[in-house]
Amino acid sequence: MSLYTAVLRARLPCTHIKILVFRGVQESQFVTEEERRVVGGKGIPPETLQHIRDRIDVIDVISRYVTLTKTGQNYKGLCPFHSEKSPSFSVSPSRQMFHCFGCGVGGDAITFLIKREGLGFMEAVQELAKLAGVPLVLDSRGGRDDQAASRRERYQHIHTVAAEWFHANLMNSERGKNARRYLERRGMSAETLETFCVGYAPAGWTGLLDKLEKTGVSRDDMFQSGLVIKKEERLHEGKSGGQGYDRFRDRIMFPISNHRGQVIAFGGRGLTDEQMPKYLNSPETAMFAKGQTLYGFHKTREAASRLNRLMLVEGYFDVLTLYQAGVQHVAAPLGTALTADHVHTIRRIVNTVLLFFDGDAAGIRAALRTLDLFLNTGLTVKVMELSPGDDPDTYIRSQGIDALTQLEAHAPTLLDFAIHASLKEHNGASIEERVRCVDEVLRILQKTNNPIEKEERIQLVAERLGIREQTLIDRYPMLRTKPGRSPERTSKAPVKPASSQRLPKGSPEERDVAVLALQGMLSAQHLQQLRIDMFRVPQYRRVMELVFEHVTAEGQIDMESVCADALQDDEFGPIVTQLTLRDSHFDDPVSHFQECVASLERQHIQHTLNELITQLRVAEQGHRAEEIQELIEQINDLRGKKAAL
Ligand code: UTP
Ligand code: MN
Repeated sequence: MSLYTAVLRARLPCTHIKILVFRGVQESQFVTEEERRVVGGKGIPPETLQHIRDRIDVIDVISRYVTLTKTGQNYKGLCPFHSEKSPSFSVSPSRQMFHCFGCGVGGDAITFLIKREGLGFMEAVQELAKLAGVPLVLDSRGGRDDQAASRRERYQHIHTVAAEWFHANLMNSERGKNARRYLERRGMSAETLETFCVGYAPAGWTGLLDKLEKTGVSRDDMFQSGLVIKKEERLHEGKSGGQGYDRFRDRIMFPISNHRGQVIAFGGRGLTDEQMPKYLNSPETAMFAKGQTLYGFHKTREAASRLNRLMLVEGYFDVLTLYQAGVQHVAAPLGTALTADHVHTIRRIVNTVLLFFDGDAAGIRAALRTLDLFLNTGLTVKVMELSPGDDPDTYIRSQGIDALTQLEAHAPTLLDFAIHASLKEHNGASIEERVRCVDEVLRILQKTNNPIEKEERIQLVAERLGIREQTLIDRYPMLRTKPGRSPERTSKAPVKPASSQRLPKGSPEERDVAVLALQGMLSAQHLQQLRIDMFRVPQYRRVMELVFEHVTAEGQIDMESVCADALQDDEFGPIVTQLTLRDSHFDDPVSHFQECVASLERQHIQHTLNELITQLRVAEQGHRAEEIQELIEQINDLRGKKAAL
């Protein structure tokens, strides 16, 4: 575990993370989005952030992903975050923000890249800085960061050269003939090989080494990359140091990319079953961590995001075959178990995960092991079951795409699958024994944070075991949901659907005033008629507080600051984008505003009156004459005001 991982795993305070950010270690997969915001907000000088914001247009950024059509002041398009037929995704050029009225996602260009590309805050800012042509200097001390950056660049260069060379070997060289035949036999189309840039590492010892040498790569960098292995000095006495040989020889090469599509490692399959190991992978480096990488995801993330679900398979070939068959929401871990980091990455993109593992015992165990991992993530997890001996690759070949679609549609939940798998071996035994069978499942279940979910799950387990819920709970007291305790809200809530970001029902006047303010329809005089105590719905009150906080000396709202502030908060941001981009048809905004103010004023008075009357009653019970007199005066005063309105 690197220091960096250790620090982040321990969730040190932001100040510590900030130091790391300044040192140029920004490529984290484990920092939560909130932390990214904080890290980003503090790590990048605000004027630089502003500088970048000034130079990019949210329309340009989003247009790269969504076809936008101008309607009135704003642009409309089909939301890239959920499936829809008519456009409810709106982008405002004047406010530089977007909002989807279908799924509730909203924000600025940075938010968009974070959600769409699965980038971290820093990466999104870097991406925008690149677009804007603004140099982003993150390390005030210089040096160290430049070194790391240039090391990264050299690593990247080597992998790009290698991937292209392997690919060219496969596609059109004499020495790639065998590999070509092998892949043909396995049904791989040229298009698929192209899409995933599959290649071939020839049988010699120094093919890649020579190639890299020709492009001017130093021996040291070759060794660092892991693609060339250093020969032990003593075996080569007489020759000067730095001799090496290719790690991958006579293998089909699968480039492994990070989420930006940069090749960072390879998996190589032997052409025959004699060749051991069957798959050889690049060693882990500072740039490549198996536990954080999913094979194929850079190509399939978009489809997954659109469909809001991701199919996880075990092998390279599974990914390729499914993709070729038109199932493009698929990815695979790299021969290792799924990790919390994987889950974290996945959760930012989809709501549902389909485990499509091999049908053998190992595949079933692998699926069961993820139960703990997915608990309390908010993800729906389903299992697509295969018979022993099948894997997704062979299944789709023999059964076809329709069968696969059926399998996906009828996949049981992971929990159901787990119970079923546990019970399978000891069916028909006594209740005691049956409960013992699902012991492991119950142990995991009691860690469920959400009481509603917990209850549903206990119900399901009891049903499957054929016993009463109470019997289960008696055995596992920890399963009892504590009454009155609301579900824990964690920052790990799934990105969508954003039900918490829906506007509160009621108080249309408060809402409309907030809309008018955010849409820039209120003058200085208008604002003077408003007071914070007129707003009772927390969300609208917060909007108005923010607005008042950013009134300029001339009495105008500094909308840019309002937006920038609001978007710091993942929960509150979408409320502001929604109100700002709302299609509001006020025939006469000014008179509508006056009506709202009058109504809010009336409501405020009525509310105060109610409170005073309650106080009066209490004072009367206590026979406190002086207080009674004072309250009556206040009440009369208010009644007069109310009548005058
Ligand atoms: P499989 O053996 O199921 O791979 O291992 P596969 O992709 O289905 O290969 P084919 O169809 O036999 O050609 C699943 C994954 O486990 C990792 C690889 O990532 C592989 O895709 N693995 C497997 C290794 O890393 N090393 C091995 O020796 C074997
Ligand atoms: Mn397989």
